[in-house]
Formats: sequence, C-alpha cells, structure tokens
Amino acid sequence: MNLQSFSVKQDIVFGVGAVKSLPEKIQQLKGTKVLLVSDPGLIGAGTTGKIEDILKEAGIEYTVFSHIEPDPGCWIVHECRDKMVEEKCDIIIALGGGSAMDTAKSAAIIGYSGNRIHDYWGYYKPVENETIPVIAIPTTAGTGSEVTRNTVITDEEHYKMVILNDKMLPAIALLDPEMIMTCPVSVAAASGLDALIHAVECYLSDLATPFSDAVAEKAMELIGPALPRFVANRKDVQAASDMLLGSTLAGITLSLCLPNQAHALSHPLTGYYGIPHGLANAMLFPTTMAYNALADKGKYKKIYNLLRTGHPYTEDFETDMLIDYLKKLNKKLGLPKNLCEMGVDESHMEEMLKDAQRTKIWEHCPRSTSVKEMEMLYKEAMYRD
Ligand SMILES: [Fe+2]
Repeated sequence: MNLQSFSVKQDIVFGVGAVKSLPEKIQQLKGTKVLLVSDPGLIGAGTTGKIEDILKEAGIEYTVFSHIEPDPGCWIVHECRDKMVEEKCDIIIALGGGSAMDTAKSAAIIGYSGNRIHDYWGYYKPVENETIPVIAIPTTAGTGSEVTRNTVITDEEHYKMVILNDKMLPAIALLDPEMIMTCPVSVAAASGLDALIHAVECYLSDLATPFSDAVAEKAMELIGPALPRFVANRKDVQAASDMLLGSTLAGITLSLCLPNQAHALSHPLTGYYGIPHGLANAMLFPTTMAYNALADKGKYKKIYNLLRTGHPYTEDFETDMLIDYLKKLNKKLGLPKNLCEMGVDESHMEEMLKDAQRTKIWEHCPRSTSVKEMEMLYKEAMYRD
C-alpha cells in the first residue's frame, strides 16, 4: 500500500501587521532574551529597527547579530552561535532572507551543545541536545526557509552541506508583506524565481502526493501573476502579499517533497562561482524542464496554465510552450541568457559534478539522470541561446 501523510507542525501568521504579534509569540515560547539575527542591508533599510521598536516597547531584552553573508559559511553559523551563548539568549528571531534564516536555524539546532554544524550534516540525524526556538520573519519572498526543515551551509571546501532535520523547523513563522517591501529588485527577481521553482519541482517530484500537489498548485497560481508585478514595484501590497504567501506555500511543498535537477545542479554553481541560489536555479531551470519533458504525465499543461492565471485557459498545449514561457520570464526579469554570461566555464566541471551527486534529489527526479547527462545539462545551460 502506498501510504501518504501530511503535516505542518508550526504556527503561521499571515497578513499586514503580523509582526506586531511578536511579543505574544515570544511569551508563548517562554523566551526571556532574544537573539535578533538580521543583516546589514536590513539595518540600513530600517527593517531591523521596526522589529527592535516592537521589542523595546514590550520591554523584551534582546541583542542583534548582523554578520550575515549571502549563502552562509559554517564559520558565520559558529559566530552566531557564540553570540547567542555569550549573551545567554534563549530564543532567536530570524529576520531576513534565506541566508539569515539558515544561519539562525543552524545556530538554533546546535544550541548550547558546543557541537559544530558539520555534526548535523545529512538527512534526519538524531539530535541529542536541547535546541533553541526560532521565530522566522522572512524579508524576501523566495527560499521558504521560514517553513522548511532544511538549511544549506557552505563548508570550508566550498561544498554546500544540506541539512534536513525536523529540529530545524522554526516554531513560528510571521509573514508580514510590509517586511518584504524594501527588498532590492535583483533579490526580488532571483528569490521569486526560486519560490516558483520550488513549487514546480516539488509538483513534479515522484514524492508528490495529492496534499503537496494542492499546496504547490496554489503557490503557482499566486506566484505566476504576482512575480513580474512585485519585481516592477515592491510596494504593490497585493503583489507582495501574493508573493509572500506563495513562497511560503512553495516552502511547505519543499518540506513535503524534494526538488529536482535544477536544485541539485545549482548548489555547486553557488559554491564555486558565488552565484546567488535563486539565480543559479533560474538559469538552469528552462534546461532541466526541457530535459524532464520526456517524462511528463500531463502536469506540464497544468503548470503552464497555473503560472498564467488570469489568461484564458490553454487547452491546446505542447511542452515547448512552458519551456518558452520560462525562458521569456527570465529575460523579462532581467536575467542573463546563459551561465557563460555569468562567468561560469568548464574549469570546475569535475568538482561540480562530484558535489552535485551528493544529494538524495536524484532518486526522486521525474527523469533519471546519469552523470553524463548532468554534464550535458550544465553545458546546455552554459551555452543556451
Ligand atoms: Fe531553492
């Protein structure tokens, strides 16, 4: 019998003003001193200040850790953990995009144990130590890290360690559209595409169930029309709300399924060339979707129509129409044509292929992929017209 299960084990609060419930949520989790993890960009934009004001007004003690780097390395995680221990914090607010949230979640799982983040690398390793509760407040619509059990942390060898663990799941996610309105345009495009790719890849994964499909379909319906509008104007409240809700729903599917080839191949591009995660995925995605088209069981037509919500339903569909749509979307959002234009060449191919294979993703892709085919996909995305 093929058993299917569905659970979302956290509180999610959504809507303009959601962050105002912070004091109540901190009390609910019995927090006495907060480590507020944020980044210098958010401090400059005044977003961190808004959260500090709420904490000050409620008389909640806190300290800020803002040394966040894009695609965080293990050393940043350990620095964050050290600050938490030094300041005796017992609750973390993860304010930011994927990098801040992944750093915060990683420090939280280590807690006061004295372990290194490397000790948790892998899938569902048992965690003996006490962990610290996290309240996640996303400031980009993309990674879905506020509702996922995983983090991606770079080790000393450029390798992107994927850690999947139930203890990584933030206790509470506060989704406030106003928090994503200061997001820079390039981040809005790259992280928004990442969210779209989460929904589509999980929808096509062979781990998909009717439960995850329902969530993925809603995510695509929200993100498809909202993404260009949000990139054009981050102050568009409806577009920001749809992107934030859509990316969180896409994040939930990521917790229920696994993504496909674009995610497996993108991590080494970030590790070796520093290409932001969402951008690396988006550059690979038209290529991997064209590759998987051979295995399509009718979902490509649904994806095409969901992403084009608001347009008349297309009955007469061919898979090339979806690939074309994705290429045009990248262009419309200002992305380069291919990976070569981003400085990627074949000099790291051997290491990238080796790193890309170190994931369970390959076991659940719609179309099986040999190492030779992985190389072909990289080259296709490098030189694509
Ligand atoms: Fe992603």
